[in-house]
Amino acid sequence: MPEYKVKKVCCIGAGYVGGPTMIVFANKCPDIEFKVVDLNASRIDAWNNEDLTKLPIYEPGLDKLLKECRNKNLFFLTDVKTSIEEADMIFISVNTPTKKKGFGAGKASDLKWIEASARQIAEYAKGHTIVVEKSTLPVRTAETIKKILENSFKKITEDNNLKTFSVLSNPEFLSEGNAINDLENPDRVLIGGENENAIKALENLYKNWINEEKILKTNLWSSELSKLAANAFLAQRISSINSISAICEETGADIQQVRIAIGTDSRIGGKFLYPSPGFGGSCFQKDILNLIYLCEFYKLEEVANYWQSVLDINNWQKNRISKLVVNKLFGNISEKKISILGFAFKANTNDTRNSPCIDICNELLEEGANLSIYDPKVDYEQVLNDLDINNKNDDKGTWEVCNSIEETALNSHAILILTEWDEFKDIDWFQLSKIMKKPYWIFDTRFCTDVKDALAAGFNYWRLGSS
Ligand code: NAD
Ligand code: UGA
Repeated sequence: MPEYKVKKVCCIGAGYVGGPTMIVFANKCPDIEFKVVDLNASRIDAWNNEDLTKLPIYEPGLDKLLKECRNKNLFFLTDVKTSIEEADMIFISVNTPTKKKGFGAGKASDLKWIEASARQIAEYAKGHTIVVEKSTLPVRTAETIKKILENSFKKITEDNNLKTFSVLSNPEFLSEGNAINDLENPDRVLIGGENENAIKALENLYKNWINEEKILKTNLWSSELSKLAANAFLAQRISSINSISAICEETGADIQQVRIAIGTDSRIGGKFLYPSPGFGGSCFQKDILNLIYLCEFYKLEEVANYWQSVLDINNWQKNRISKLVVNKLFGNISEKKISILGFAFKANTNDTRNSPCIDICNELLEEGANLSIYDPKVDYEQVLNDLDINNKNDDKGTWEVCNSIEETALNSHAILILTEWDEFKDIDWFQLSKIMKKPYWIFDTRFCTDVKDALAAGFNYWRLGSS
């Protein structure tokens, strides 16, 4: 079998994965050319913006790395056809959200963008092309991709070349807000596949900066399943600790103490044990639903129920926080101003997909509250896109987006901290109390507050997981 030499790489999808992943690849492999393509022309324009504060995604350290390689060996463009034609290796990094309608709606992943990418590759590729699944996919999707590609497998291209393909699975494990570090120093790189030379070609790219022993090789199906399972395990830890946070509030135990006591057991470990208003982000819920769909398909009802309970606890946690805010504010928040600190699903990202803040805000708006929202990286348009209520509905509450903590706090009855941005950890509670309405409350779901300062400033104080 011939050894594949990779000189040109194409990535389909310039989103939260395609963008940062290719930026790191381009920096680490200066002799290879990377082209990132997307259907969304305004996203491509934003990646090409001279003003690095206007990139389509916010990720610490990304702008600096981009500057090093953009228009040198990394290009963002909409010309899918030429980029595919020229590529020796193509990453598919397109979105795979939960299906909204049709068979499997609400659980299965919608694979229409994957199929469209595979069809584009089948049509335009030349010679031998290594196709890499970077998107998170249901187990055995590689089979579908192969079938689509095989339709053109024996086709001779205009220049008399035989088109051939090998398909690899190379799931991405980066977490937003920490993407650059995750990509530069991953715990492991996973490559699933059958064609030894194709695996070697991808491994050689990674070996530019990653030790060989961190590169795990499996069959295609183990690789696809491992990605879903890893996200399910991570989410399961959060639901577990969130369930314990509720017990703490009833019993006088303190979740921060319990978290440390549990996490110092080396078999359990301390990471991913932070209680929260629920996990958000584009993937945990989607990937667990995907796993559940798979279990149901294979008639593994008990397994499906087990993973469903992780999602149930997550929804319950969001709902119990909204209820608690209403109860503490005398059972009525109608026309009361409440400051919402944070709207992104976690700190250090502008991503709000599936953010717990959305569900919590929607519930408070249903109760008639007037919300004043501040997040350092989320703008008005994004909030408008996310909330059910558009401020034109008379019997519901209203919302506005502010530019500072002080602006949200002015005349408000309560502050609800939902995202753990660093600037929420430095609030001068004494100053803030002067502009709020008494009796004023802090509801902290992210452990940002200095409790002593808050109490000294006269706040009523509630913290997740403490009574
Ligand atoms: P995203 O929505 O930010 O980006 C996907 C991009 O693909 C979009 O810009 C879309 O326009 C483009 N696209 C779709 N079909 C196309 C086509 N046929 N041709 C060209 N462009 C096309 O999504 P994302 O967050 O980058 O996630 C991508 C995949 O990676 C998903 O499967 C996700 O589960 C997985 N993943 C995401 C993360 C994360 O942190 N966001 C981490 C690991 C894995
Ligand atoms: C997660 C995984 O961590 C990545 O490995 C994976 O690649 C990615 O999903 C994906 O497949 O999309 P991400 O969603 O970006 O990454 O961010 P996380 O740090 O995992 O946080 C997810 C959610 O869990 C956030 O809402 C966060 O606030 C919450 N969380 C996290 C907690 O509530 N407690 C914790 O201890 C950790």
